[in-house]
Parts: sequence; C-alpha cells; structure tokens
Amino acid sequence: MNTLVLTDIDQAAALLRSGGVVAFPTETVFGLGADATNAQAIQRLFNAKGRPSDNPLIVHLAARDHWPRVARSLPPIAARLLERFAPGPLTVVLPKQPAIQAAVTAGLDTVAMRIPAHSQARQLIELAGVPVAAPSANRSSRPSGTTWQSVLEDLDGLIDAVLCGDTCEVGIESTVVDCTTQPPRLLRPGAISLSRLQAIAPEIAIADRDSPQVNSPGLRHPHYQPQAELQIVENAQQLERLLVERFPGPDRERRLALCGYAGLDTTQLSHQLGLARQFASVESYARHFYEFLRGADRLGLQSIFCQAAPTGGLGDALNDRMRRAAAPR
Ligand code: TXA
Ligand code: MG
Repeated sequence: MNTLVLTDIDQAAALLRSGGVVAFPTETVFGLGADATNAQAIQRLFNAKGRPSDNPLIVHLAARDHWPRVARSLPPIAARLLERFAPGPLTVVLPKQPAIQAAVTAGLDTVAMRIPAHSQARQLIELAGVPVAAPSANRSSRPSGTTWQSVLEDLDGLIDAVLCGDTCEVGIESTVVDCTTQPPRLLRPGAISLSRLQAIAPEIAIADRDSPQVNSPGLRHPHYQPQAELQIVENAQQLERLLVERFPGPDRERRLALCGYAGLDTTQLSHQLGLARQFASVESYARHFYEFLRGADRLGLQSIFCQAAPTGGLGDALNDRMRRAAAPR
C-alpha cells in the first residue's frame, strides 16, 4: 500500500468516509483514524497498528453535542466534565450506542469518547461526518507518534494516509475518566490533572489498576516502549550510581541517552552520551518525551535514562508514561 502524505483535509476526510485508515494530528498525540461505524475499516485499523483486539479505542467527535452518535446516555458527571474540558485532552467513558462497532470497544458495553481541540482534527472529523475511532498513531507497544514523520516511521505502507500537521502541543495522551461507574474513576492520567477534575466533580477517584473492576483492558498491554531499555532516575547522584554499577567499563562511549527537566548536570557525562536533552519545563518535557525515545532508537543507543518529573499535574501523567515505558518486557 502506498501511504499518502496529505495537507488537504478534504482529501483525508473523503478517505475516512470511504473506509480508509488515516493518521491525523491532535493536541495530544497523532491519532490513527477510521470510521467507528464501519467494521471493515476498524479491522484494517487494528491490523495496521498490530493492536490486540481486547484493547478498546477512543471515538472522536467534532463537537460536544454530537455525543448521541456514540453514547446511549450522558451521565450528569460526564456532562459537567465535557462542559468544562471539551474540546480538549479529556476522554470520558460512557454507555455505548449500538451504531458503534463492537470491535471498537473490544466488546464492552461502554465507549470512550473525546472531542479534540486541535483545529485540523476537528475539521477532519466534521468533514468526514462519521465518528472517528482513533488510537495513538504508532505500532502497538511503541512510543506514541507526535510528528507525522514518526507516524510514517511506524506505519508507512500500512495505512492509507497521514495528514501533516504541527507537532502536538501536549505530547502525551488524554486523561481518561470512566463516567459509568460509581464513583467515577480516573483510568489514565493526562493533561487534565486529577485536581482540576475534582474541582468540577470531587467524587472522582483514582482507579486501582489491579482491581478486577477496572475495566480498561488497554492498561494490561505493554506501552510506549522504545527498543533501548529505559531507566527512571530521580537525581544526579542516583544516575552516577547506576552508571557505575551498570556500565563499569570504558566501553560505554556514547551508548546512552539522558533526558530530564532540571538539575541533571550532563557536562561530566557528555563523553558517554549519544543523546541528551534538558527541558526547561514539565510541559516541554511532556511535549518532546516520545520523540526523545524515538530519537535514541534512531541512533541505536542501548540505554535511556529519564529523570522523573515532579509529582502533581502534568508530571503525574508523564511519570505514568515513563513507568510503563520502563516496565519489564
Ligand atoms: O489523546 C488520546 O487519547 C489519543 C488521541 C489520538 O486522541 N488517543 C489514544 O488512544 O491515546 P489509545 O488507543 O492509545 O488509548 C486509549 C485508552 C486505552 O487505555 C484504552 O484501554 C482506554 O482508552 N479505553 C478505550 N475505550 C475504553 C472503554 N470503553 N472503557 C475503558 N477504557 C477504555
Ligand atoms: Mg496508545
């Protein structure tokens, strides 16, 4: 298959309408879109991504009041959250409407729904005129794609097209809140922090991922993992210790990558590093995180050290992605 690189939103929308699989930018990460009411299109999407069939997709809409296209009802808490945070990096889990293909929700009776804030994404969905199922646009288990070039790196020849766009502003995926449970639960931390959610709805609780009641099957699969092994470090001393333990010989020349947001002095290490980035803020760290992991892989580096982000707000979401990228394979 020849993957088209498009700048024309009309052309991308026509492809989606006719059952195509099209990657597009959003404010979080690139999405890999297909018509959520078309079983064949959804099958092609799962195949292209190599996604396990038990991991449900998020369905994207162009406007809040389109929710009846995907959901049977809108729990009051979801209405309040959408009023405040949509369009934006928030996904709400709702009772599923039958027109949405069972494969989209992995057979669940609930559906995840998001209204992206990115203008190209909203125009595309509006023009396509169908609800658009879209996981992150990367091969399953890889770091998410936040540039169209990274999307092609994973999916060239496997999808119909990628719509070019600016680098994604947030850089990590949306916050996911299950509004079908009592209390409602935060399933995945994201750009909208728990405290901002709780300011609107204090009853929202953090999901215990090990609980059998937590119905977010996607949490079980490996995620965000570069080829290089990843280690999280808190500070420079811990990094020094780890380097001495793990790379005692002189042969560690330029096989390592290091990124952080502050206070990790890399001047001493520079001869060991193939790649190093210090980000000025947590926002910038999150925005460039996946691209940093991909950059280390492009250079064939062996190990990546990432400084943990400060806790709270976006830092919690970034640390969640880091922990999962560092999880045992
Ligand atoms: O920012 C984002 O959310 C991006 C952009 C493209 O919108 N999309 C994204 O999709 O991150 P994906 O497929 O990589 O992650 C979807 C997450 C998974 O953790 C999945 O388990 C959860 O949403 N999910 C989807 N449907 C669900 C449902 N019915 N119940 C519970 N969790 C669900
Ligand atoms: Mg993903």
